[in-house]
Amino acid sequence: FDLNQNFHSYLPFEEFLMRLTKPTLFTNMPVTCEDRDLPGKHLGLFYCQHWALFMCVVPCLCVNIFLGETFSSYISVHNDSSQVVKDILVKADLQTSSQRLNLSASNNAVTELKPESCVDDVIHHEVKEIGTHILVCAVSYTTQAGEKLYFRKFFKFQVLKPLDVKTKFYNAETDEVFLEAQIQNITTSSMFMEKVSLEPSMMYNIAELNTVETEDEGTSTFGKMSYLQPMDTRQYLYCLKPKPEFAEKAGIIKGVTVIGKLDIVWKTNLGERGRLQTSQLQRMAPGYGDVRLSLEMIPDTVNLEEPFDITCKITNCSERTMDLVLEMCNTCSIHWCGVSGRQLGKVSPSASLALPLKLLSSVQGLQSISGLRLTDSFLKRTYEYDDIAQVCVVCPYMSRES
Ligand SMILES: *[C@@H]1O[C@H](CO)[C@@H](O)[C@H](O)[C@H]1NC(C)=O
Ligand SMILES: *[C@@H]1O[C@H](CO)[C@@H](O)[C@H](O)[C@H]1NC(C)=O
Ligand SMILES: *[C@@H]1O[C@H](CO)[C@@H](O)[C@H](O)[C@H]1NC(C)=O
Ligand SMILES: *[C@@H]1O[C@H](CO)[C@@H](O)[C@H](O)[C@H]1NC(C)=O
Repeated sequence: FDLNQNFHSYLPFEEFLMRLTKPTLFTNMPVTCEDRDLPGKHLGLFYCQHWALFMCVVPCLCVNIFLGETFSSYISVHNDSSQVVKDILVKADLQTSSQRLNLSASNNAVTELKPESCVDDVIHHEVKEIGTHILVCAVSYTTQAGEKLYFRKFFKFQVLKPLDVKTKFYNAETDEVFLEAQIQNITTSSMFMEKVSLEPSMMYNIAELNTVETEDEGTSTFGKMSYLQPMDTRQYLYCLKPKPEFAEKAGIIKGVTVIGKLDIVWKTNLGERGRLQTSQLQRMAPGYGDVRLSLEMIPDTVNLEEPFDITCKITNCSERTMDLVLEMCNTCSIHWCGVSGRQLGKVSPSASLALPLKLLSSVQGLQSISGLRLTDSFLKRTYEYDDIAQVCVVCPYMSRES
């Protein structure tokens, strides 16, 4: 039978699909609103206008969608025919490069459709993959004559990467690890950075170093504006300290350790939120050999030719028997005070020994602490420790007089 002579479609339904996109503001200027202006009061209005416009463009999902954003779509199946159709079932699946996801809210068929009525569904999906996505909308129904019919439509769209994240680790002379995260804006659409934070793994406590302490509150090192210019990169810095229960063992942490993950939240200029979490960031612990020498305590600034104290920590990372002798060798600027060539005594495996030392500098400026030697008298092997840390040496008299 002829389902419908008056319409271009041979089907009794016309299927509309609209990507519920954020409206686009036609402006070349950078977005002028800041956090308190988001998302604005005109959101609803924009949506309506947008839909009306978009209906004709369907099924072109030509607006960019970014990884971490929520893809929303409105599916409407309209009865355009003069036939009675029954048991209408609309299914929406999303095919990504790796999987097929069921986005339908329910699996229940609509028994009958009133004249000029629609079956509507709004689907949401947080996009977790980049690349080509295909939304597959399938409609099955039964005609008056009892014939079971079925049709499908495919809507293709691309998911792009909004931000480029690079990370770098720095090992401090103490057990601390510094993480630098470079976040680059690789979008062309307007975005506002709401949150960038590091969720540390259970081994670490974390200090965020992205604020400057003023009078009573901290201001962001990036200033008040939360926007990144296109292709601009921001550097976020975090300091990770092993928790006391792990710090004991920190001296002998070997191989790969999990540091934590970065959590980034942004908003598009009318308030839609996007979120990305990196995978667990891993760090290769530096190798320390049989005996590790690290620093427990050192002053930042010291006076010229005035003795100062530092505390070194010696950790036993070895399995074999050792008998260690500590020697202190002067450099052209660093002079050690105290006895060189003393025996250190026994350090149990994985344990450490605090070693208070006194020294002075005869040269101003930033000086490197060097010249510690540990000799294993069994194997006659010497471990050298140079450039352990740096101190700023100042002349107290000059600054007082001037
Ligand atoms: C898709 O998910 C909905 C809601 O969870 C469920 O009711 C329906 O049965 C699922 N469909 C299929 C084909 O698995
Ligand atoms: C579809 O609409 C037509 C008229 O628009 C109506 O006659 C028909 O009964 C409707 N079909 C269903 C299943 O309700
Ligand atoms: C990225 O650059 C675009 C292009 O100028 C800009 O509109 C957008 O706000 C920037 N994104 C972020 C996260 O700041
Ligand atoms: C470290 O521990 C091992 C294993 O018990 C031991 O043989 C060695 O002598 C220790 N090293 C030091 C410097 O005490």
